[in-house]
Amino acid sequence: MKEKKSNFSGSIGFVLAAAGSAVGVGNIWRFPYLCAKDGGGLFLIVYLALVLSFGFVLLTTDIAIGRHTKQNALKAFGTLNSKWRFLGYLTFLVPALIMTYYSVIGGWITKYFCTYLVSDDSILSQDSYFTSFITSKVSPIVFMLLFLALTAWVVYRGVEKGIEKFSRFIMPGLILLILGIAIFSLTLSYTDANGTVRTGLQGLKVYLYPDFSSLTVKRFLGVLLDAMSQLFFSLSVSMGIMVTYGSYVKDDVNLNKSINQIEIFDTGVAFLAGMMIIPAVFVFLGTDGMASGPSLIFISLPKVFASMGAIGRIIAIAFFLMMGFAALTSCVSVMETLVANCMEIFHKSRQKMCAVIGIYSLVTAVLICLGYNVLYFEVKLPNGTVAQLLDIMDYISNSFLMPFISLLTSILIGWVVGPKLIIDEVERNGEHFRRAKLYCFMIRYAVPVVMLILFLVSTGIV
Ligand code: PHE
Repeated sequence: MKEKKSNFSGSIGFVLAAAGSAVGVGNIWRFPYLCAKDGGGLFLIVYLALVLSFGFVLLTTDIAIGRHTKQNALKAFGTLNSKWRFLGYLTFLVPALIMTYYSVIGGWITKYFCTYLVSDDSILSQDSYFTSFITSKVSPIVFMLLFLALTAWVVYRGVEKGIEKFSRFIMPGLILLILGIAIFSLTLSYTDANGTVRTGLQGLKVYLYPDFSSLTVKRFLGVLLDAMSQLFFSLSVSMGIMVTYGSYVKDDVNLNKSINQIEIFDTGVAFLAGMMIIPAVFVFLGTDGMASGPSLIFISLPKVFASMGAIGRIIAIAFFLMMGFAALTSCVSVMETLVANCMEIFHKSRQKMCAVIGIYSLVTAVLICLGYNVLYFEVKLPNGTVAQLLDIMDYISNSFLMPFISLLTSILIGWVVGPKLIIDEVERNGEHFRRAKLYCFMIRYAVPVVMLILFLVSTGIV
């Protein structure tokens, strides 16, 4: 049975759901550590410039394709041009790959939240805690199951009653929490064993001050690459998710305005996450603590919380709760995209497809968890990093498929169907598309060239 097409109730519901997809672990964990690694203010400036150019173009394209075709990515591209049907299938692969590991990371966050809730924080701040947890056989699977069940429940309830209602409730709460912790972070100060006093405001300077001193072309290219891959992941573009959400948007919604709001939401949360994490890590661990990369959240931050004394545990509970919310709304969007696409292919109800995708997610996520123990193996990726199962999935989806899909999409829109289709769609509600000229230039020239370079560099071809 084919179900009646679901819709968001209006603009706010759509913006909050799309922002819910965009705001996730990428903003709260990946953005701050890239910022710390790439010289604070310098990374911020580059990222902001990319959001306003590439981010805006890619997001507009995805959402407008969705609303124009009123279809999921799988069919939408074929509807635009029947020879380009393959692009829909390629796009579908990305959420299918991300689904395998996103709930595993969601499970790690749930585990930290629950542990802070029931016990004191001394165990979590030990160096070996995180590794011994993810390499254990049962615990990561149990917490992943918990997180996945919650995700499936929201998707099962559908677009308006599930995703929209849930996002309306979660997203404002998330902003309040992050703002509260960020302000608190700035008030911190600490005297280390050598008698050096470090304050939150000094940490803010480390975060915002653009360090141009040792800027070389090679370093700048590295920053550009990091910022670009962060942009894809963070805005959830080029993976069919925003096409799917776009297909639920009613014709009278002002796309121009909604897209700006989604970008402001996503970048604002990332910015605040940096303001919350970088000064705190700087105060308690100094500049060394910030070089910790991906382990920032699960290894460095618990140390920071432990150094804060009694209030640390409360902040930690609030932090992991917020992080859990952010991860949940993102995971919901990944699962929704898979369910919605499958509903269209197999003409089955949402409930049945939820069950099928739920089982797929469960089996693959268990395999990813086991990738840290019984199924452990390592491979060297074309870009030189050594990876295990979860990293491999992340690499294929983010570094390989996303730039490739963006490249193909820009060729399809820029040169085959023509940018006018997107411009007309944005102007459908009578509103003038102010950045139409910029859009045309970007989609025809800048996006294909830059995506090609990004693809070649991140796959190690050049
Ligand atoms: N945009 C999300 C984040 O920033 C991640 C995500 C990627 C969500 C892909 C859905 C799909 O964490």
